Parts: sequence; structure tokens; C-alpha cells
Amino acid sequence: MKKIKLFDPVTDKKESIAIKKVLDSNYWASGLGENNVKLFEKKFQKFIGSKNSVCVNSGTAALSLALSLCNIRDKEVILPSLTFVSTAHSVIENGGIPVFVDVDPKTLCISTEQISKKISKRTKAIIPVHFGGMPCDLKEISRLCKKFNLILIEDAAHSAGAFFNKKRIGKHGSFVCFSFHPVKNLAMPTGGLIALNDKNHSIQKKKLLSKRWCGITNRHGSDYDVKELGWNYYMNEFSAAIGLVQLKKLDIMNKKRQKIALRYSNELDVEWKMPYDKNSAYHFYWVIIKNRKKLRDILSTHGIETGTHYKPVHTLSMYKSKIRLPTTEKIGKEIVTLPTHPNLSKTDVDRIIRVINNSV
Ligand SMILES: Cc1ncc(COP(=O)(O)O)c(C=O)c1O
Repeated sequence: MKKIKLFDPVTDKKESIAIKKVLDSNYWASGLGENNVKLFEKKFQKFIGSKNSVCVNSGTAALSLALSLCNIRDKEVILPSLTFVSTAHSVIENGGIPVFVDVDPKTLCISTEQISKKISKRTKAIIPVHFGGMPCDLKEISRLCKKFNLILIEDAAHSAGAFFNKKRIGKHGSFVCFSFHPVKNLAMPTGGLIALNDKNHSIQKKKLLSKRWCGITNRHGSDYDVKELGWNYYMNEFSAAIGLVQLKKLDIMNKKRQKIALRYSNELDVEWKMPYDKNSAYHFYWVIIKNRKKLRDILSTHGIETGTHYKPVHTLSMYKSKIRLPTTEKIGKEIVTLPTHPNLSKTDVDRIIRVINNSV
């Protein structure tokens, strides 16, 4: 029986050729982010239509560095608890206070109603997560940001290529943080990018370039200076070379994901499931099932891998608090995530749908 993986990068000869070229060049990485890294930065920025951008080596680094420009020390940052822990870590790392908000049961994106209830005098920023590639309500979130003078930082780890209001995700918030981890829609060995959309994007980019390489500035030949702390967060040449190939086929790959999601949404006999939206990048497809273990076990015996994104952050030991987020907590126990990657054949999708419908 053919195993069906939950995530599976789509590669062909072009990625192999790109890697070999970098390998043979003996120029594999540089803190300066030249060659393929610079080219990827330029091409991805053009693709999403942001004002500026900075490549980094992960989505986690993107979030961390973006927040380092937001002066959040002792300030509150609103975010969903239904996310990968990096979203919350980036707040703590920069001295901020994460304020977790429940999600909308329809989309599993942050609930805008709940955001309004949590805004206080100490609130400095909002980090919506485009969950599973489904765009959050950026119109309402932007309105709240404007009204209360808050910074909008989007966690777009799942949504490379997605749209909101006819514009690509990446063109809206002050900072939009992408991940190019191998499981993501645009896959690299490791990688991330911060898209910048504020008026002062050039100054922000300069700061970020220094922060992503140990605080180094004013480099002339072998001379340089360091004025503040920085990290080794730069992207390597292999990742960027693969990313350039992946970017060319991202829309085609996302279309395939959407086709699979449309089938799930039409054919799965499950009441609570991810809606179909042509703007979504469908990083995965989710269903909410009471007896999750049973369904996952059955799928596993049929060679179908599934996931449980995510264990809510506010229930993890480090973040444990008294807050109650009823929808998030229920989803944390009942969500099953299904594969949508473009390596799935029609027969694979038929099998996934058949096994689920026979067991619910
Ligand atoms: C929602 C979300 N945010 C941030 C990240 C972090 O990205 P990376 O793994 O590239 O550091 C991930 C990765 O899984 C994610 O799913």
C-alpha cells in the first residue's frame, strides 16, 4: 500500500540542477545575503507586491526580527493560541506580553470580535495567523490597528501565494512573516522572509539586514562596525536557489491544493470542516472530529498520515495560564489535519475521502 504523507515537497530536476550549481560554486552562504538570496528576495517581493523584504533562515527568525523593530517591551501583543509556538515565543523574546485570543470556528483564524475585547492601553500589536493558508479578516484587523494605533504583524507561515481582497498576502501588514520550511507551500531546506509595507521600509530593511547578521553594519571590504545585538539569521544559497525554482511553480502548486480542498469540502461527510475559499493557499485541510484518535488510527492503518495542528499555546507548560479559550481548546482536542500537497494523485484523494467517510 502506498503511504500518503501529510506534507511532501514538490521537486523535479530543476531543484537538483539549482543545488548542484550552488554546490559547485563553493559559495554556499554569506551574512551579506548576496547572489541567490538577493535574487529570491527581489523575486518574492515582486510576487507578493510588498514595498520591501528581507530574507532570513526561518519563519521563527522572521517573527523574532520583525517584533524586534516594534518596541513591545512590557506591552501586550494579541495573537491566537491556535498556532505554532514560534508566534508566541517571538513576543516573549522581545520582552512583550502575549495576549491569547480565541479563533473563529468557521475559519480557525483569530476572531476579530474577540480581539476587540482584549485591546487595552498596553496593547501594541496584533499578530493574526492565516491558519492553514486561509486569510484572516485583514480588513477588520487593519481597522482595529488604525483605530487603536497598533502594529499589524502577519504570521503568513502557511500562506505563501494566498490572497486577501485581490492582493497577495504580504502586501497588507506592516510586517508579514513567511516560513519556507520544507513542509510549507514554498519549500526550502530552511528559510523565511519578512515583507515590509510601512513608509519607512528602507530604514527598517537596513536595521533588519544588520540584525540578521550579528549586528554588523557599515561593511566596507573587511572593515565593519557593530552597534547592537544581532544573530546569524541569514538565508543560505542552497535554500534561496531551491526557493527560486519553487516560486516559479507556486501558483500552479497552490491551484492543485485548492482543487484537493474543494473535493474535501464537497465530498467529506464531516459537519465541521475547513470551508472552501479560492483565496486560501491550503497549506493543509482541517476537519473537527469528536473521536479524533479513532479516525487518525484508522487513517494510519490505511497508510494515511494526518496531523493535529496545534496544541494550543496557552495550554503548554511555559505559557500555562488561567485564561479560557473555549473554541481553541475544543479544536486543540478534536482537529485532524489532512494532506493537500500537490504530490497527491486523484486516487490518493479518493482513498482519503473514502476512508474518512467509511469511518465517521
Ligand atoms: C504558524 C507558524 N508560524 C511560524 C512558524 C515558524 O516557521 P519556521 O519553522 O520556518 O521557523 C511555523 C512553522 O511551522 C508556523 O506554522
